[in-house]
Amino acid sequence: MNILGIDIGGTGIKGAPVNVETGELVAERLRIPTPQPALPNAVADVVDAIAKHFDYSGPAGVTFPAIIKKGVVYSATNVHESWIATDAGALFGSHLGGPVTVVNDADAAGIAEMRFGSGRGRGGVVILLTFGTGIGSAIFYDGRLLPNSEFGHLKIRGKDAEKRASEKIREKQNLEWNEWADRVSEFLAELEKLFSPDLFIIGGGVSKKAEKFLPFLTSRTEVLVEPAQMRNEAGIIGAACISARLPGMDLPEI
Ligand code: BGC
Repeated sequence: MNILGIDIGGTGIKGAPVNVETGELVAERLRIPTPQPALPNAVADVVDAIAKHFDYSGPAGVTFPAIIKKGVVYSATNVHESWIATDAGALFGSHLGGPVTVVNDADAAGIAEMRFGSGRGRGGVVILLTFGTGIGSAIFYDGRLLPNSEFGHLKIRGKDAEKRASEKIREKQNLEWNEWADRVSEFLAELEKLFSPDLFIIGGGVSKKAEKFLPFLTSRTEVLVEPAQMRNEAGIIGAACISARLPGMDLPEI
């Protein structure tokens, strides 16, 4: 079964039809720069353009970098504040001509990682963290997602973790890899205290530079990095899988 997956980010909106049984994109991914300002209607037009490009109509999965409950946006840290209380599911659905499932970006990436990536077959507590503009998180227990975990907003030294340790902050503050890794290690230690995870998976933009920071990370818990082939696609794949609600996915109501 092929389903359209779309990943909405701060700088780019990416989409492709996905074979949800194998996790493979069935056509080359299309990326369109995120309109600025990223107002709901402007973003919905891009979602529509992606569906048109693939001549697609039908159910779709769409990621969004915020708290999402039943398609409605509840937070706006790195997105325009006019998204708050927007029913993104209904907005995109009116363009796509099929039911649209909207899901937090890191939750979607986590679903893809658990099904096809580093988390495959892993039970216990698994935490995926994406380091990009912000820090996204997804937490699983025996493969089942607890949605909207938002660990990037845990306070570390009085500040949101993502304001100290995102990839954007590393670049902006020109941090050395060891300095940045120390901040990430502190964040991981906090998560260890709270959740005693069995595995951390690191994804997002920074994961392609794993060899630069992994040697400096200190963690009691096993740390894996998102596999290269999933890097730009985990959100797209996860969103499509969530929309498909495949048997055995044991998903909560999103
Ligand atoms: C948002 C999350 C999102 C993360 C990564 C955070 O600022 O609050 O919802 O998953 O950024 O995009």
